[in-house]
Amino acid sequence: MKKILITGGAGFIGSHVVRRFVKNYPQYHIYNLDLLTYAGNLENIADIQNESNYTFIKGDIVDEVFINALFQEHQFDGVIHLAAESHVDRSITNPIAFVKTNVIGTMNLLHAAKTIWANIPEDKRFYHISTDEVYGSLGMDGLFTETTAYDPNSPYSASKASSDHFVRAYGETYNLPYVITNCSNNYGPNHFPEKLIPLFINNIINNKPLPVYGDGNYTRDWLFVEDHARAIDLVFHKGKNHETYNIGGFNEWKNIDLVKLLCQIMDQKLDRVSGTSENLIAYVKDRPGHDLRYAIDASKINQELGWKPSVTFEQGLEITIDWYLNNETWLKNVTSGAYQNYYEKQYH
Ligand code: NAD
Ligand code: TYD
Repeated sequence: MKKILITGGAGFIGSHVVRRFVKNYPQYHIYNLDLLTYAGNLENIADIQNESNYTFIKGDIVDEVFINALFQEHQFDGVIHLAAESHVDRSITNPIAFVKTNVIGTMNLLHAAKTIWANIPEDKRFYHISTDEVYGSLGMDGLFTETTAYDPNSPYSASKASSDHFVRAYGETYNLPYVITNCSNNYGPNHFPEKLIPLFINNIINNKPLPVYGDGNYTRDWLFVEDHARAIDLVFHKGKNHETYNIGGFNEWKNIDLVKLLCQIMDQKLDRVSGTSENLIAYVKDRPGHDLRYAIDASKINQELGWKPSVTFEQGLEITIDWYLNNETWLKNVTSGAYQNYYEKQYH
């Protein structure tokens, strides 16, 4: 039985990846390593906790001694690395935490993998999950390809860019078998309500202002989280060694247009008079270093591995909104306590 380590599997994307691997690959034992920071939540994966091919391990990827011991004990065959500090606004107020987890944490995993795989690298794989934000900002035209130069602007994207470079360096220097994917903005169930879509869904439910940064004319390329999980499955099994693949939704939206669409759907779902939620829109101070536009050219993964999104934005948004409306307890649990302090500091 192959032993696969997935890091960050109690977070948003990681929980969808862990579930997919536990259910679809009974021939693998899946080890989910997660520190359970504010963003990690075992409720996200409660349905698989008793599966016989699944083990949860609480631990910190920044702890080098712990990581080395874990790799020595389990002799993993593959690593899918998602654990990270992931929110740009938090990286602006606390950049050091991002260097620790995203750079040092990734280094610890790379080094531990290199150590146990020294003599048998061919059938092993280190899969690093990264973001399109490493490429910086696009103007009104063009798309990010795998050869676009790195040009990160936020402490978050700089820390992810740095980790990507270390992964490549371990491939070149030590022949570590790796793949990297750089994905656009995800949305879907289990998304922590600090990011645009779940934050605004929660605020609409609670009749709270919708804080649109700057003029709202910033553009993101949105992908449904299950489509990302499917791409990760494909790249882990079929991606070429030492390659990078961009993953995107072919789905660009200006923030303000997306917010207005969300408001319209939510008014219908909540039986409110049309226009009620739009009245909650409040333009607020812009994010420093705010990237104007991200958009992915996903033709490489499409042509080489046959991947494309399976869900339209309208379908994905509907599934997502319904999930939040049906999971009030999840939402209440994650927005109590420390979340309130974060919200006060960020938005007042
Ligand atoms: P998330 O913030 O929802 O989850 C991160 C998880 O990592 C949490 O469960 C957290 O507890 C865990 N974690 C944090 N620090 C840790 C540490 N030191 N040790 C062990 N575990 C730790 O993030 P997400 O949105 O699911 O993103 C997952 C990955 O995908 C990240 O690497 C992110 O950069 C990348 N990514 C995210 C998006 C997106 O839109 N969310 C897009 C592209 C790429
Ligand atoms: P976010 O979900 O934080 O993702 P990222 O910054 O990684 O792309 O933000 C998406 C877009 O929404 C981005 O342009 C910033 C904007 N935004 C707001 O206008 N208001 C908010 O409260 C948040 C969290 C984001």
